[in-house]
Amino acid sequence: MTDTLENLATESRSFPPSPEFVAQSNVTAAIYDEAAADRLGFWAEQAQRLDWAQPWTEVLDWSDAPFAKWFVGGRLSVAYNCVDRHVDNGLGSRAAIIFEPESGEAETITYADLQKRVSQAANALTELGVEAGDRVAIYMPMIPQAVVAMLACARIGAPHSVVFGGFSAEALRSRIEDAEAKVVITTDGQFRRGSSMPLKPAVDEAVEHCPTVQKVLVVRRTGDDVAWNDERDVWWHDVVATAPDTHEAQDFDAEHPLFILYTSGTTGKPKGILHTSGGYLTQASYTHNTVFDLKPETDVYWCTADIGWVTGHSYIVYGPLSNGATQVIYEGTPDTPHKGRWWEIVQKHKVSILYTAPTAIRTFMKWGADIPAQYDLSSLRLLGSVGEPINPEAWMWYRDVIGGGRCPIVDTWWQTETGAMMISPLPGVTECKPGSAMRALPGIGAVIVDDHGEPVGPGGGGYLVLSEPWPSMLRGIWGDPQRYKDTYWSRWPQYYFAGDGAKYDEDGAIWLLGRVDDVMNVSGHRISTTEVESALVSHPAVAEAAVVGATDETTGQGIVAFVILRGGIEDGPELVQELRKHVGHEIGPIAKPRQILVVPELPKTRSGKIMRRLLRDVAENRSLGDVTTLADPTIMNLIQQGLGAGN
Ligand code: PRX
Repeated sequence: MTDTLENLATESRSFPPSPEFVAQSNVTAAIYDEAAADRLGFWAEQAQRLDWAQPWTEVLDWSDAPFAKWFVGGRLSVAYNCVDRHVDNGLGSRAAIIFEPESGEAETITYADLQKRVSQAANALTELGVEAGDRVAIYMPMIPQAVVAMLACARIGAPHSVVFGGFSAEALRSRIEDAEAKVVITTDGQFRRGSSMPLKPAVDEAVEHCPTVQKVLVVRRTGDDVAWNDERDVWWHDVVATAPDTHEAQDFDAEHPLFILYTSGTTGKPKGILHTSGGYLTQASYTHNTVFDLKPETDVYWCTADIGWVTGHSYIVYGPLSNGATQVIYEGTPDTPHKGRWWEIVQKHKVSILYTAPTAIRTFMKWGADIPAQYDLSSLRLLGSVGEPINPEAWMWYRDVIGGGRCPIVDTWWQTETGAMMISPLPGVTECKPGSAMRALPGIGAVIVDDHGEPVGPGGGGYLVLSEPWPSMLRGIWGDPQRYKDTYWSRWPQYYFAGDGAKYDEDGAIWLLGRVDDVMNVSGHRISTTEVESALVSHPAVAEAAVVGATDETTGQGIVAFVILRGGIEDGPELVQELRKHVGHEIGPIAKPRQILVVPELPKTRSGKIMRRLLRDVAENRSLGDVTTLADPTIMNLIQQGLGAGN
């Protein structure tokens, strides 16, 4: 995608918001000036969206940079802000969650119901011995109990670490171990494409080697038989459903850890990104309100992400619920039981705001416009995109076919580390260009710099950096402050280095060009090349492996692996299948390479560094770039000949 995107900043189409949208918009262009005139004052004002148990004394303490403290001295309960206060404000009967299971009847959970459920879960976790500061791992499918579990942790001050349910036992184990989780919350299994799939066995396998785990709390979802450890395992329906449904929400310091979320970095070891309470919730709440132009009384909002990713944290749980929104949560896949499933859901629940990833849009494009055309999508009034660059063709399709040409599109750039949106149009203000995230949100400093850290001007390209601390910024990497400094703050100490390439067009709009490091983006999910390489070399048949992200029409990037086999091992389709399976087992199905190519050698520089650029050329069927810095320039011929013969 990068190559096409690089040519893009010449896009000439642009779409101003319609006068009708502008007339009802939550904010006007004045918000940019207001924020620029007094940035900290602006954030202080946004923090007033929340209910504080104790006011802060200082908006930002940056004296220990790059370790920030926001809303110093303030105290609040994140859970109270997301649930109870709406009930206290007379909105208990408003639907908080409309749960659409993969099959069967939808279930509506009001804010009053949610308050009871979260209270029960908080009481049960306390009974299980969880105290403020203890970590709780959550490994669950997209069901309401997952949201309840997260809020219950927040309520008692126990940081949660949600691990995507598609990750393997091994990936779960390393995350539980790193966070030293005391309790794991999971389900017996999950529904996937019409059948039930087990989930608990992966937890059993993972916790076998994790002495910190004292209890495993299990929601019965599929009813399938599961192995049971009487000492350790407890059923949700035994301990949560029977617990008292009132619970006094405690308040915590604004900087109390709210969650850890693991994401891929450039090494094999995932980073535990740490987020805290007051600043995180302020920005999640503010951006959810302004970027989506939320009208909580009338909108039905649907974010299609999984709670295992940061989008699920900020824009399913904390942003929407702090704003008292009504939202759809869908358990299943877009093609179950048919390819019109999403549009059926939009029609059925009259979804007005839809937030999804470009990969999904490109998949729907492939399936054809005649599928969404069979449904009434007239309830939609705003569309959002996240997770990867959106190509103009997909943007236009999204606008025309899904949005009927009337809905503004907000292309939101942000990261696990930023906690909330950073670069995005404001739908009632910004004239949008298809494929551009446009400009930094009010209160956010984003700049594109060259190799020397010098800001570039209109038309220039380079690295995206963030020039000012922001409330929902990560507070560090769990247990590894040095890695936090090295990864984000060492290249240019005054800037946060995001790892993305970007370009300004002549009008100063920002175009994201994809990662500049060894992190791949597959269907909007971050996977490091090193992680996949480590998984491959852990297989006894593999001597060496190099992995690249190759442009993929649907998923943005696809994983292509080059492997050198150990002596005496025969290449063949079965081995390739086995290696794919092995990677699936080590990391999870999303990390399975699209293609594994067995090669005799890898292209290396004289200092031994693998030249991925050349492998990317091979993976994308392009003519090779410069090979002169290779230790042995003939290697590429060998690789290409071998592939030509073998494929
Ligand atoms: O490369 C950028 C891409 O996704 C990365 C962050 O991934 P993750 O931490 O998993 O969070 C994804 C959901 C926020 C970024 O470094 N990315 C995210 N949003 C966009 C994007 N690239 C282009 N345009 C976007 N809107």
